[in-house]
Amino acid sequence: MIILKTAAEIEQMRKAGALVRQVLERLGRYVAPGVRTAELDAIAEEMILAAGGTPSFKGYCGYPASICVSVNDEIIHGIPGKRVLVEGDIVSIDCGAILDGYQGDAAMTFPVGDVSVEAEKLMRVTREALEAGIEMARPTMRLGDIGNAIQVHAESNGFSVVRDFVGHGIGRRMHEDPQIPNFGSPGTGLRLRPGMVLAIEPMVNAGGHEVMIMDDGWTTCTRDGSLSAHFEHTVAITDAGPEVLTLP
Ligand code: MF3
Ligand code: CO
Repeated sequence: MIILKTAAEIEQMRKAGALVRQVLERLGRYVAPGVRTAELDAIAEEMILAAGGTPSFKGYCGYPASICVSVNDEIIHGIPGKRVLVEGDIVSIDCGAILDGYQGDAAMTFPVGDVSVEAEKLMRVTREALEAGIEMARPTMRLGDIGNAIQVHAESNGFSVVRDFVGHGIGRRMHEDPQIPNFGSPGTGLRLRPGMVLAIEPMVNAGGHEVMIMDDGWTTCTRDGSLSAHFEHTVAITDAGPEVLTLP
């Protein structure tokens, strides 16, 4: 069941989105060689609580932290801990917060110091793929148009999109219908309508799309060990087109 949001609800979600984005920007400035991933989690949790929000990931299906921190071949759901970032890593940070009952959800991949040309390209292409998907998030388009735009941009640059994890509707709950694959055929699938709010989140691998889940039950890596990047925005579909809610 898809829950359409009123303009007032979208306004609420913009506030939750702004908080998430502020957390990500602060963490992005903090990322550097020598930083422990648990430090990033502590900063995020403190910021969300100080703003009167709730970290939506913490306790979700037993997830133990307020953000996901996924390094290099880790795609998503990396658990912050003792790992120390080193020069040349790329680090994907995913953050969700609830403010006044509404959710915001966003992710970005950051370079740690100087990174390889391939890593730079992977991050740029994944960000562009998200932008291409968002561009399709407007009335009259269909879900397959979003997935197709993302897939075509990633694959035409020699990368692959993860199939086993997808984006999602979002509102009072973090995961609402519909699921939003990062692949698909144009002109197919659910027709998009004003009031839908979608978390669009391409995960792009430098190698193959296959994933594996580590023994901690969360950390999801590329099967071939290749690098992966992840960018996510919470986006409202309005009569005027897509509106990104996870902006500062
Ligand atoms: N952005 C991710 C998602 O939409 C984050 C969930 S992590 C979890 O699914 F720990 F909360 F599951
Ligand atoms: Co999400």
